[in-house]
Amino acid sequence: MNRSRVRFPEAARFVPHTREGWGTSAFTSAVDDGAVNDKETTMSDTIRWGILGTGWIAEMFVTDLKAVGLTVAAVGSRTQKSADAFAARFDIPRAHGSYEALAADPEVDVIYVATPHPMHAENALLAIANGKHVLVEKAFTLNAAEAARVAEAAADAGVAVMEAMWTRFLPHMVRIREIIAEGTLGDVRTVIAEHDQKLPSDPAHRINNPELGGGGLLDLAIYPVSFAIDILGIPTRVLASATMSDTGVDRQTALIFEHEGGRQSMSHSAIDAAGPVAGAIIGTEARIEIEPWWYNPTSFRVVTPDGEVLEHFEHPVVSRGMQYQAIELERVITAGETESPLLPVSESVAIMRVLDEVREQIGLRYPGE
Ligand SMILES: NC(=O)c1ccc[n+]([C@@H]2O[C@H](COP(=O)([O-])OP(=O)(O)OC[C@H]3O[C@@H](n4cnc5c(N)ncnc54)[C@H](OP(=O)(O)O)[C@@H]3O)[C@@H](O)[C@H]2O)c1
Repeated sequence: MNRSRVRFPEAARFVPHTREGWGTSAFTSAVDDGAVNDKETTMSDTIRWGILGTGWIAEMFVTDLKAVGLTVAAVGSRTQKSADAFAARFDIPRAHGSYEALAADPEVDVIYVATPHPMHAENALLAIANGKHVLVEKAFTLNAAEAARVAEAAADAGVAVMEAMWTRFLPHMVRIREIIAEGTLGDVRTVIAEHDQKLPSDPAHRINNPELGGGGLLDLAIYPVSFAIDILGIPTRVLASATMSDTGVDRQTALIFEHEGGRQSMSHSAIDAAGPVAGAIIGTEARIEIEPWWYNPTSFRVVTPDGEVLEHFEHPVVSRGMQYQAIELERVITAGETESPLLPVSESVAIMRVLDEVREQIGLRYPGE
């Protein structure tokens, strides 16, 4: 087991922004400052979260939920000791020494799966089998076959399921989709995004370990891949090139996707070299330049081909920003729905299919597949 607590630098980049320029939509109004800071204004019933796994991202997620007043009712770990320590640290009332006990807890409505990718499907299926709604960390699963199994099980059980691709739910992404829908960019031709980080080189760390779904693809490339698909739709053609690490996972990957209408996206990921983490959307009438890191809470500018700035979007975000996805899933559950229109489970399955195709091209198979 890898219990490394090395912090991924993605969180360290959080910088609060001042508000300036803000669009309206059903989603933005639901997660606007006031609502985010006072959950009771958006929800009539309390939804009780259970946290499955006590690693780094679980800590970030619980911090964000608590920062905006959401209810964390229980935590489950493979060991009672870790569950107890996590519960004590975050003042969580119930601590379970197994994932099974957490899933069976009647005081829990929705489970957040925060384990390494190869465990996502098994953990999500456990939650679903116990009638719980489920939010599954990215990448949704290890491959498309697993993703389809989770989607089918959730549909059969009538519970809500969502991939925790938190970027989709952030204020800047909500406004970006509005701007595109308003036609400001003209014909959106290209999406370019990069996600290069210098991550721990320890071969046992999950990012380098094939047994834990290591490599850049499922951890880092998943962000620009999901972003390109959000803006341009599922690719009609995938071209991939990668360099492998000594441990046999993708160290560096370049992707070119063709999308409907001759549109294109390009992305790059790396696990051993830090880039600016820049992103842009280019249209015939204007482009959107997103400030690094483009997939964290950030600002952006809408710029015409001759350099005129049409809009400078900034928005303050409480804590890291992972609460937006949780608030959206709470909305889905409260409304009696089973998925979010912002990231339906069918799209998470389709994203895993694209990643399967990439892996086929670069020759990356995980143990047991
Ligand atoms: N949204 C984001 O910004 C973001 C950022 C980083 C990571 N993530 C995602 O979150 C997931 C977890 O990443 P992480 O960085 O939090 O990992 P981590 O720190 O290694 O924590 C993973 C946790 O999973 C549990 N686990 C179950 N089986 C395990 C096994 N065989 N080996 C190791 N741990 C196991 C452990 O909890 P117990 O010991 O309590 O059972 C462990 O603490 C990944 O899918 C990753 O893609 C998301």
